[in-house]
Order: sequence, then structure tokens, then C-alpha cells
Amino acid sequence: MALALKKRDFLLVGVAILILAFLWQAPPESTSRVPLDDDHRKYHELVKTDGKKAAEKFCEDCHNQETIPFPEGHPAKYRCLFCHKLAAP
Ligand code: HEC
Ligand code: HEC
Repeated sequence: MALALKKRDFLLVGVAILILAFLWQAPPESTSRVPLDDDHRKYHELVKTDGKKAAEKFCEDCHNQETIPFPEGHPAKYRCLFCHKLAAP
């Protein structure tokens, strides 16, 4: 009995992890990545040293309605790097 319960719990946890992994993967795969070019290189570095939140503070210096407008229907803009993954080097 105790063993059967453990097995079932294990399975439930496994299924939960699969679902979470799927949800976690889904948005970034279809969303454009932050390019590794001269405009963005320092933010790739900053993510490595200080984390995503520190780097995101600067995105809207350029990405704002005046300078580089967002595409129409762009989702909520806080936490850029939650959706836009960094391009691989
Ligand atoms: C110095 C100005 C500047 C800053 C700061 C900046 N960007 Fe950009 N970004 C650009 C320019 C210019 C482009 C368009 C040309 C290009 O693709 O590099 C661009 C393009 C992009 C693109 C689209 C790439 C594509 O595939 O079309 C994404 C995504 C992006 N930036 C995300 C970010 C994020 C996230 C940050 C903050 C970490 C950030 N940018 C900070 C200037 C900037
Ligand atoms: C909730 C998810 C989400 C967040 C947060 C988010 N974006 Fe986006 N962004 C998208 C989606 C989806 C698109 C449209 C599909 C695409 O081009 O990647 C997009 C498109 C863009 C584009 C145009 C890409 C292109 O190829 O032309 C840029 C630039 C951009 N976002 C920058 C940013 C910046 C800078 C921030 C933070 C201030 C930000 N995004 C926050 C989801 C997000």
C-alpha cells in the first residue's frame, strides 16, 4: 500500500514536470531573440554578471514608441527577457 502510493505520487510529479516544461518552453520558441550585436552585446554580459532584471532596465532606452516602436499588439512590456531569450553566441 505504502509503495503503491509512492509510485502514484512519483507519476503525478512526473506529469506535472512535463506540463511545466512544456509551458515554459512554448513562448520563447516563437519569440524573437535578443540579437548578439553591438547594440545588445553589453546586455548579454549584464545578464551573465547581474541577472536579467538588471539588464531589462535599459531595453526601453531604445525600445520605446519614439525610437524603435514595438510591433502592433505587442504584449505587456515589463520583463522583456522572460519572453525574448538571448540569442546564442
Ligand atoms: C542601444 C539601443 C538598444 C537597446 C538598449 C536595446 N536594443 Fe533591442 N534593438 C535595437 C535595434 C536598433 C534593433 C533592431 C536592429 C537589430 O536587429 O539589431 C533591436 C532589435 C531587438 C529585437 C528584435 C530582434 C529581431 O530578431 O528582429 C529584440 C527582441 C530586442 N531588440 C530586444 C532587446 C532587449 C530585451 C533589450 C534589453 C536587454 C534591448 N533590445 C535593448 C536597439 C537596442
Ligand atoms: C509577454 C511576452 C513578451 C514580453 C514581456 C516582451 N515581449 Fe517583445 N515580443 C513578444 C512577442 C510575442 C513578439 C512578436 C513576435 C516576435 O517578433 O518575436 C514581440 C516582438 C518584439 C519586437 C519585434 C521583433 C521583431 O522581430 O521585429 C521587439 C523589438 C521586442 N518585442 C522587444 C521587447 C522589449 C524591449 C521588451 C521589454 C521592454 C519586450 N519585447 C517584452 C513578446 C514579449
